[in-house]
Amino acid sequence: MPEPIVAVRRVSKSFGLIAANVDVTFDVVRGEILGLIGPNGAGKSTLFACIAGAETPDKGEILLEGRRISGLGAVACTRAGIGRTFQVVRSFDSMTVLENVMVGAFARIAQTGPAMARAVEVIEFCGLGRRADVSAHLLTPPEKRRLEVARALATQPRVLLLDEMLTGLTPTEAQAGMQLVRAVRDRGVTIIMVEHVMEVLLPLIDRAVVLHLGRNLAQGSPRDVVRNPEVIRAYLGDRYVAA
Ligand SMILES: Nc1ncnc2c1ncn2[C@@H]1O[C@H](COP(=O)(O)OP(=O)(O)O)[C@@H](O)[C@H]1O
Ligand SMILES: [Mg+2]
Repeated sequence: MPEPIVAVRRVSKSFGLIAANVDVTFDVVRGEILGLIGPNGAGKSTLFACIAGAETPDKGEILLEGRRISGLGAVACTRAGIGRTFQVVRSFDSMTVLENVMVGAFARIAQTGPAMARAVEVIEFCGLGRRADVSAHLLTPPEKRRLEVARALATQPRVLLLDEMLTGLTPTEAQAGMQLVRAVRDRGVTIIMVEHVMEVLLPLIDRAVVLHLGRNLAQGSPRDVVRNPEVIRAYLGDRYVAA
């Protein structure tokens, strides 16, 4: 395997008595779409928070291109090249789409003009061009997910973390979302995505890492992972056995 763009090394994180992540270890290959899967409470969002710097692991470390980023905080991780969307959409409701995305752009660009130019370009790329001047709270649910992606992309990430970006969308909306994810990857951004809907995730990802009860359960190609007996027992259920 080539040098990983992100290396998660024995990361543990507890909240009081709850061990959300225990010794989690995996590599992310530059340019891939990696699926991070596992049942509710498996520790996926906590791991994202650790990679994005919002939480500090109790033990272990996370490297971006060989440099330790864990424990640096969210601002430093953004500057280092980690972008993220949140499972619960966090747009600023009273602001327009353009203003929301400019917040992302300001992470790297200090002047208003260039930040706006960057935001306009990203909004167009995310298919929200005609909605740029609309207040964020007026967007449809799939548009709100696109806004999250646009705001994250405006920070010019090298690695983008997508937390349940397609969950709750109709199949048609999810297909359109998948196209956006592929387009982001084609621009050279490495993607780690958490998704609960396996049918959506499997055709999209190059590899899967499965967490269960905060620990690594399995990893490999999507095809191998869905056939893994432990994964079937822990998560997928019988409907995948014959797949
Ligand atoms: N900020 C927090 N405070 C307390 N417990 C938390 C916090 N964040 C997550 N947890 C707990 O950690 C475990 C893993 O949660 P989470 O990472 O959200 O899992 P997932 O995203 O896989 O559903 C759960 O038991 C959850 O309740
Ligand atoms: Mg989660």
